[in-house]
Amino acid sequence: MCGIVGYIGKNDTKNILLKGLKKLEYRGYDSSGIAILDDKINICKTKGKIANLEEKTKQQRLIGSIGIGHTRWATHGEPNDINSHPHFSNDKTIAVVHNGIIENYLELKENLQKQGYNFISNTDTEVIAHLYHSYYNGDMVETLCKVLKEVKGSYALCIMCEQHKDKFVVARKDSPLIIGLGEDENFVASDIPAILENTKKYYFLNDMEIGLIKKDNVTIFDMEKNIIQKEIFNVDWDISLAEKNGYDYFMLKEIFEQPLCIKKCINAKILNDDIFFENFSITNEQIENINNIHIIACGSAWHAGMVGKHIIEKTCRICVNLDIASEFRYKNPILNKNDICIIISQSGETADTLAALRLVKEKGIKVISIVNVVGSTIARESDNVLYTLAGPEIAVATTKGYSTQLAMLYMLCLKFAYVRKNITTNVFKQYIKSLQNIESYINKVLMVEDNIKNIAEKYYNIENAFIIGRGLDYCISLEASLKLKEISYIHSEAYASGELKHGSIALIEEGTVVFAILTQDDILPKAISNLKEVKARGAKIVIIAKEGYKNLDELSEDIIFIPKIDEQFMASIAIIPMQLLSYYIAIKRGCDVDMPRNLAKSVTVE
Ligand code: G6P
Repeated sequence: MCGIVGYIGKNDTKNILLKGLKKLEYRGYDSSGIAILDDKINICKTKGKIANLEEKTKQQRLIGSIGIGHTRWATHGEPNDINSHPHFSNDKTIAVVHNGIIENYLELKENLQKQGYNFISNTDTEVIAHLYHSYYNGDMVETLCKVLKEVKGSYALCIMCEQHKDKFVVARKDSPLIIGLGEDENFVASDIPAILENTKKYYFLNDMEIGLIKKDNVTIFDMEKNIIQKEIFNVDWDISLAEKNGYDYFMLKEIFEQPLCIKKCINAKILNDDIFFENFSITNEQIENINNIHIIACGSAWHAGMVGKHIIEKTCRICVNLDIASEFRYKNPILNKNDICIIISQSGETADTLAALRLVKEKGIKVISIVNVVGSTIARESDNVLYTLAGPEIAVATTKGYSTQLAMLYMLCLKFAYVRKNITTNVFKQYIKSLQNIESYINKVLMVEDNIKNIAEKYYNIENAFIIGRGLDYCISLEASLKLKEISYIHSEAYASGELKHGSIALIEEGTVVFAILTQDDILPKAISNLKEVKARGAKIVIIAKEGYKNLDELSEDIIFIPKIDEQFMASIAIIPMQLLSYYIAIKRGCDVDMPRNLAKSVTVE
């Protein structure tokens, strides 16, 4: 959701900005623009894809050693050339890019208009350009401090001034911004992949911190202009992880990366048949005394949390409350002493999840976060962070992010169960072995890609689908349904099979396609009865079933068998064919799989 890139240094500024913006395309955007400072600031911006911007930049002089760039995801004002960032002050001496929302922009705008400032866009961002101009006293940092004291809302900001050819300033609050450190050049960006090919050394800005970026040095200030010492983070992500490497889409590449990512995630925590979480501040005694667990997340991370709830309740006998972050915040949650909270987020920047984390911490509850992006805000603000080590995930629809979240939840669950003596040492060790097998079982499923592609060819032109299952299979159905709808735009509903007859079965008619997940032995007979109910009403059924289940032919049009593993880990295996199926259906429908309409990878507004 909106992306920022900034550069100062000896290299080709325009090229670095455009390349960086392209790498941020996955975040979701509808327009883009850059500003480069030469004798004066030159801005080029346009609605639509970055390819349009690239074309437009060819017709303009855009040379200089400082530049800022932006991809916009419209909030205030429609996506058009004027509302695109960067925004100028009236005299064109100051240029601003901004992510987030300035909540008091109307009030600020009114005041600025009274002072004679003229607004040309409908954006909230433009107030920053004029406000900065109104306070400008020659000191870029001091001016920014004054501006930020006036502004309410969320922001990642990058500002340059015509007068200062050797620096630009940045700041953030509730919206991500990182600073990349190079040799005789420095960078800023919303996210690591934008500048990963340029540097692996980063400063992560905290809220209400200001960065003064020069080519040979970066200084961080607090709001009173005191200098803050920052730790440099080294990110060991391989650049190739942020490239397509011969795949048509990032999503397909990331689907195929899953075995390796899961292996990496699991191996990082397992040593000598035991599970270790480094720097874990929750003692075994605290684990034994856990009262309730609260799992909070959004989107697919919430679906992973649902699997977590299922297995933790079953194995550890701890009551787990699972909440969507945007709901949790406003429900006056009941949090008790000895509760713990698990926050799940691939990006580590989702605004609602972050707000939920802060609320939980305020109440004195310990937070374990399961996060992919190293150094992200959620990771930094949690008491304990468990990195999923999936590497950069670029496709908007998560696959390896979700799979590694599951792996981490399995390990937390097993550790808790072992410490609380819900399982014996032998069972614990068997489970660990089983965890280590997930990788090879997923590889087996990936080998039937062609079969899944053929099934996709048969069903790609449907407009509605049900995805059903019971128990853990229902949790998988939810994620499978989200994958299908978000990338193919097929209307798809996940349902707990047993619940269909309480209303939704009315929608089943001749030819309605129902995907069914069958992986749980204890509820298999009941799940089959539910399939018979929809079959009797004309449904065409496609089954994803655990190897060994018999007599499914007469029920279904197509079956994909998946390898058997301990039942509580089946979500990791069963989701794979549904990811591939969604992918190939979306491709057949001509959809832009990596960047589905209206969606953003990292949702940094509430
Ligand atoms: C967006 C993404 C989803 C993701 C959700 C939560 O909606 O498109 O794929 O599951 O945000 O994101 P997080 O980064 O917190 O896991």
